Amino acid sequence: MTTTAPRVGRPPEDAPGDAPAASGAAAPELPPARGELSAAVSGRLRGRSAALPGPRAVAAADPYGEDLQLALHLCYELHYRGFAGVPDAAEWDPDLLRLRALLEERFEEALRAGCAGSATPAEVFDALLTEPPDGQGLSRFLLRHGTLEQLREYAVLRSVHQLRESDPYAWVLPRLWGRAKAGMTTVLYDEFGCGREERVHARLYADLMRGLGLDPRYGHYLPVVGAPVLAAANLMSLFGLHRARRGALVGHFAAVEISSPPAASWHAAALRRCGADEAAARFYDEHVEADAVHEQLVRREVVDGLLAEEPGLAADVAFGARATGLLEDALAESAVGAWRAGASALRAPTEEEA
Ligand SMILES: [Fe+2]
Ligand SMILES: [Fe+2]
Repeated sequence: MTTTAPRVGRPPEDAPGDAPAASGAAAPELPPARGELSAAVSGRLRGRSAALPGPRAVAAADPYGEDLQLALHLCYELHYRGFAGVPDAAEWDPDLLRLRALLEERFEEALRAGCAGSATPAEVFDALLTEPPDGQGLSRFLLRHGTLEQLREYAVLRSVHQLRESDPYAWVLPRLWGRAKAGMTTVLYDEFGCGREERVHARLYADLMRGLGLDPRYGHYLPVVGAPVLAAANLMSLFGLHRARRGALVGHFAAVEISSPPAASWHAAALRRCGADEAAARFYDEHVEADAVHEQLVRREVVDGLLAEEPGLAADVAFGARATGLLEDALAESAVGAWRAGASALRAPTEEEA
């Protein structure tokens, strides 16, 4: 990466982040396509009427590849903020929904193959707390060796999801009841700021980005993040948008809440070691405390509550948590691998660095 990044601790002079709704309502631009599938989705969203790819084209694509993951991400984002210039009605375009189903099938098939074997939810959760034996864990790497530039890159990678933190989990609320619903709602109340806009976790993430001199607009860095990041973000929508995958969604949520507190404290420490603005560390400080409570609530109320009502979902909960670990490991491997090789974890320099 080049070294002309803006001063740390302050946004760039003309920071778009100074706008009040910096990560708010504005829809991002459609990113450049990365192959046949994403070009077709993008073309449809731009108003072209050409036929969309069918099962053969999807079957030929790498399920974890740049093209398929971007195509899926474009389809999913229509359910969140959409894209600039794309009509809201595109969310329910039947042709796009048909293609999305094919992409999801291909993605889930690969995930199922990668998560073969049987384990109970509790076994999977315990395994998530075990540090990778080779010490290559991303949070641990950043704690020990991370440079400010790498911490900024990590903030860019995570921005695809963190600027909408917890939104995909909210889809599950109408599909839960009893203890699971009460527990899930309690955790989400925290995630969404307990009634205070400035405490919404997505907003704290935007503050973190500003503190690192990054642009906190929603979807702004989509063009520079690679498939592992998109896959990790897509997994939440894959689970969240389908009632049939409510067990997997709860498993995902539990996996994230359980593994968050130690990782969050390491990220906060790494940011402070590198002299980053306090606003940047605050996002992680908040998660050290909040997620220790969330972990207990998720295990006892959400997971146990769900399985008391629907014991048949245990395998789905375990699958959701394992798939989360699988994709988080892939993301970590890709980023740490790049950094260890002295390269960037981004597909291209950000405009702040160019
Ligand atoms: Fe959070
Ligand atoms: Fe949390």
